[in-house]
Amino acid sequence: MNKSPFILSIAGGGSTYTPGIVKSLMVRLADFPLSEIRLYDIDKERQETIAPVVEKVIRDHSETIKFTVTIDAQTAFEGAHFVFAQMRVGQYKMREQDEKIPLRHGVVGQETCGPGGLAYGLRTILPMVELIDLVEKYASPKAWIVNYSNPAAIVAEGVRRLRPHARVLNICDMPVAAMRNMAAILNADRHDLDVDYFGLNHFGWFTSVRVKGEEKLPQLREHIAKFGLLTEDAAQTDPQHSDPSWVKTWRHIQPLMDAFPEYIPNPYLQYYLMPNYIVEHQDPNYTRANEVMDGREKRLFEAAREYKETGILPDAFHVGVHGAFIVDVACSLAFNLRQRHLVIVENKGAIAGLPYDAMVEVPAYITEHGPEPIRVGDIPRFYRTLLEQQLASEQLLVEATLEGNYEKALEAFTLNKTVPSVIHAKKILDDMIEANREYWPQLHKAYIKGK
Ligand code: G6P
Ligand code: MN
Repeated sequence: MNKSPFILSIAGGGSTYTPGIVKSLMVRLADFPLSEIRLYDIDKERQETIAPVVEKVIRDHSETIKFTVTIDAQTAFEGAHFVFAQMRVGQYKMREQDEKIPLRHGVVGQETCGPGGLAYGLRTILPMVELIDLVEKYASPKAWIVNYSNPAAIVAEGVRRLRPHARVLNICDMPVAAMRNMAAILNADRHDLDVDYFGLNHFGWFTSVRVKGEEKLPQLREHIAKFGLLTEDAAQTDPQHSDPSWVKTWRHIQPLMDAFPEYIPNPYLQYYLMPNYIVEHQDPNYTRANEVMDGREKRLFEAAREYKETGILPDAFHVGVHGAFIVDVACSLAFNLRQRHLVIVENKGAIAGLPYDAMVEVPAYITEHGPEPIRVGDIPRFYRTLLEQQLASEQLLVEATLEGNYEKALEAFTLNKTVPSVIHAKKILDDMIEANREYWPQLHKAYIKGK
């Protein structure tokens, strides 16, 4: 196969994840050859802080790959073959608001689930579409955008509505992270796991886990009943998900499965199925955003400073399934490998009973033309109803964003299973409109007018 090297741009170049993704790219150069890596961000200072670390990672593996750091879209995307997108609109400062505002009202505070996820969705849909337009304007006509930007379910729905033909593949590393943990529990190689799964992003279930054709759900159930979805020694899991809050999250698979042992839930279902428990066990003044700013972000910034001062780069960033997965998906797109991965795609009948155009998360073969979803078929009523409600909440939120429609935003918040009443929904939404003034001017206007 002719593998002429690609130009790859990373949108959200200043992300704490960038060095890890680039490291993953470097160890896979034989599979996914690169002539140039470009970092693109709208926050110049942040990107320039992280860029020397990224450059060092590249130079440790290649003298020839060109490295470009820019805040100019044309420079970033001209002739690019792949774009990895990982934007965080409002950065960690706004993530903190997404988490803390609902908690002030006794409701789950999370960046992708519940009111926090809806708020983050309202901020992200239009910037994501702007990015797609810039890529389409400048990049190679067959360029693919592989998108990690959250909240992925809502972003995917917004993109489907506004740019239905865009070459964007929305992905999430959560199922593959769960598979990493399953493999550790089963003492197997992650790549030998063969799974069935259905749902929406951050809202789905594994219905089968096979290793060399043998069903492993019974063994996993037994383990989960004792330890959750972690090995007995939690330190054995990937450091990306070994902060205390993540360890708790993996452990929570146990109560979820004590209630419904049939399938293995995506860890994010803890927020929808036991919201009050989560709120009661969380410090409303110190959320995941704080943990990340004091942890992953701080370590990376310190490493960048140390590298600048001493020329020695400490091992301060993480390489794991997050980076490996996006490279796997890109390889399959680039070389038509038809690998089977869990990705976010338009349903098109894959999950029976869910709307044809719903953006679902299911296994798909990744081809050079994009994902070909695998038919899941019928699902039990309990799961379908949960999915329908969540889908309605997310779709209404997208409509609210596109129309600047306050009532629809309130409906989206009210329908979300983490929100106990319309009174909570309204108070949280109104506080969020205030906090997001500069991001949602239209909704702010609609809100003021309705007062
Ligand atoms: C998982 C999810 C991502 C999310 C990330 C947040 O990997 O799949 O969607 O962005 O967690 O991780 P963090 O460490 O920033 O809380
Ligand atoms: Mn995710």
